Amino acid sequence: MDPKMWIDVNSESFQYSLDHFVIPDHYETALSSVLIPHGVIMDRVEKLAKLIVQEATGPLVVCCVLKGGHQFFADLVNYIKKNVTRGGNSVPLSLEFIKVKSYNNDVSGDVKLSLTDEECKEFQGKNILIVEDIIDTGKTMVQLLAKLKKFSPESVKVASLLIKKTPLSNGYIPDYVGFAIPNAFVVGYALDYNEYFRDLDHICVISEHGKEKYAVKN
Ligand code: HPA
Ligand code: MG
Repeated sequence: MDPKMWIDVNSESFQYSLDHFVIPDHYETALSSVLIPHGVIMDRVEKLAKLIVQEATGPLVVCCVLKGGHQFFADLVNYIKKNVTRGGNSVPLSLEFIKVKSYNNDVSGDVKLSLTDEECKEFQGKNILIVEDIIDTGKTMVQLLAKLKKFSPESVKVASLLIKKTPLSNGYIPDYVGFAIPNAFVVGYALDYNEYFRDLDHICVISEHGKEKYAVKN
């Protein structure tokens, strides 16, 4: 996607206090601000669904990258189902799930994929849409794409709700992007910090207190 087409979230235009929105009590001290309110996320996901339907050439295998991608995946699939192209054609969908883990605390480590070769064979000749929550360094996605392409899919596109503006980026840019966000650790809308915060609707910046409170102690 051309960067002009995504929403650039910067600290001037997106400065919401926690007091502006409803935040679960159990997370209040662990967050520092709301970066993207849930309603804005939903409106943006609706637009991404429309773009995906307009550009689809046939049935799609929509592939959810778990766990962080599950909320974006669920909402995106719902919007795609409601959308029809201008010619009146709807896009047949089948759904797949991949589990990926690469983080401990807020430090990126080696990427572990849970895809067997048997599962990957299903992708041969299909149009795949990978649905991811966030592109940070880009390492996970580059590894996942390299693995999938060995199984000769017809095409592979990637939709990521977020892309982080980080100097650690390897330059990878997905086909569909919701928001480009500042280089901060964000949680909510299924994005986690050590499995916490997935039950938060807004995308928020975690506070230093939150990082300590929910740190994995080795
Ligand atoms: N939040 C949650 N998960 C992530 C992030 C983040 O900022 N970056 C990469 N995975
Ligand atoms: Mg992820």
